[in-house]
Amino acid sequence: MLSFLEKKRVYFVFIFSTFSVSAPSLSSSQRDHACYVKISLKNLEVFSLENRSSGSDADGVCVFKCLVNGDTECCRVGRESILITLGYNSALLWFQSHSEYSTFSNALERYRKQKKEYSVFSQRTEAASAAQYFQFYGCISQQQNMLQDFVRTATYHRAILQNHTDFKDKVVLDVGCGSGILSFFAVQAGARKVYAVEASSVAQYAEVLVKNNNLSDKITVLSGKIEEISLPETVDVIISEPMGYMLFNERMLESYLHSKKWLKSNGMMFPTSSDIHLAPFSDEQLYNEHYSRANFWYQQSFYGVNLSSLRGAAVDEYFRQPIVDTFDIRILMAQTIKYTVNFIEAKEEDLHRVEIPFMFHMMQSGLIHGLAFWFDVAFVGSLVTVWLSTAPTEPLTHWYQVRCLLQTPLFAKEGETLSGKVLFVANKRQSYDIQIVAIVNQTGFKSGNVLDLKNPFFRYA
Ligand SMILES: C[S@@+](CC[C@H](N)C(=O)[O-])C[C@H]1O[C@@H](n2cnc3c(N)ncnc32)[C@H](O)[C@@H]1O
Repeated sequence: MLSFLEKKRVYFVFIFSTFSVSAPSLSSSQRDHACYVKISLKNLEVFSLENRSSGSDADGVCVFKCLVNGDTECCRVGRESILITLGYNSALLWFQSHSEYSTFSNALERYRKQKKEYSVFSQRTEAASAAQYFQFYGCISQQQNMLQDFVRTATYHRAILQNHTDFKDKVVLDVGCGSGILSFFAVQAGARKVYAVEASSVAQYAEVLVKNNNLSDKITVLSGKIEEISLPETVDVIISEPMGYMLFNERMLESYLHSKKWLKSNGMMFPTSSDIHLAPFSDEQLYNEHYSRANFWYQQSFYGVNLSSLRGAAVDEYFRQPIVDTFDIRILMAQTIKYTVNFIEAKEEDLHRVEIPFMFHMMQSGLIHGLAFWFDVAFVGSLVTVWLSTAPTEPLTHWYQVRCLLQTPLFAKEGETLSGKVLFVANKRQSYDIQIVAIVNQTGFKSGNVLDLKNPFFRYA
């Protein structure tokens, strides 16, 4: 379909007409290099170029389709041309008249502004956060980190391949495809068509892999945010890997839920649900370590400067950091409780504020220094249910586990109960503010903390 866009170069596309049909007068050399096209402006989300037989009114064959969204790179060239960059290729759209050019570029601009202002993603995300986030995922090395998490990648592979009947001849949407790995798994399981949506610049590499694996007829990479792009059809299955630290970090679960607007009724979600687990822990060393870090600011003569007035601020800042690492499960002082998010049923808004009440029955006496968190996701297929677990009892993943300290440790005896709640409040930095309150019911001892999930402390060696 796209022969004129297949090589890495700029293609000259003479716009035959956007609305009217009138043949441009071209020199013979221009004619040799030109592709006579009509641009359909019905819906700018999909803009298509159609082959027209010169001077004919008849609708031609679609030779090229692409998505134009807020992130599509385009710029004006000269008086009446627009250069559009699509992955590795660029097309110079050369309009027949200035008014045709204006009509097209105004519509495009209107559309781009509208999309940017109103997309669910842009409303809930600060521009600086999004830029940094997608720059991170645009790096091949970050995609490699995820691919090399054997537990993660192999479990996705198993979940998809072992449920091949859910993919055979089906249309699949891969939300945040990254390198495209899950899309390839879907094709291996028999998918007829996969739409692989990716907002970062790694989309262009996914496209390279698709071409090099001769799967261009099956996998279509769409560059853009799932909240802002259009698909040509609804899908049978949505696949994605949207989990962040402590499950919720990055707020990509919301994008995953958002993508259900493209899912057929009774369509499937891989993963289907997730459980976040929490339990109180005792770890004197960790607690003291945090104080020691802050004690740097206790110095009264650091190169002759008294730093001690900032020690309190330093303690506050360090205690606001959730700690990402792993631990021996013997530090856990009670059976875990879990909170489930069912991706089939949940709505994006459900994740704006997540409240997890708890009541732990203490199984040992000692000081409670905080709460430990991890999560599992389930792939509920027609043939098997596969679990991906980040529990401390399971092989380590790149998500590790996460611990949140209490400002003041709480003493509790075996048999007593610790009740309270954890509240996750979404913020515009693609993360959450976490509030914890906990009380030992029998003594009334109370503690808590407020943490910033966007700024974790990576403690693993
Ligand atoms: C955790 S990575 C997973 C990549 C790949 N699916 C895999 O399993 O290796 C998440 C990817 O989703 C992309 N992403 C995050 N939010 C997105 C959104 N709203 N629309 C499209 N892509 C998004 C990120 O850029 C990133 O490449």
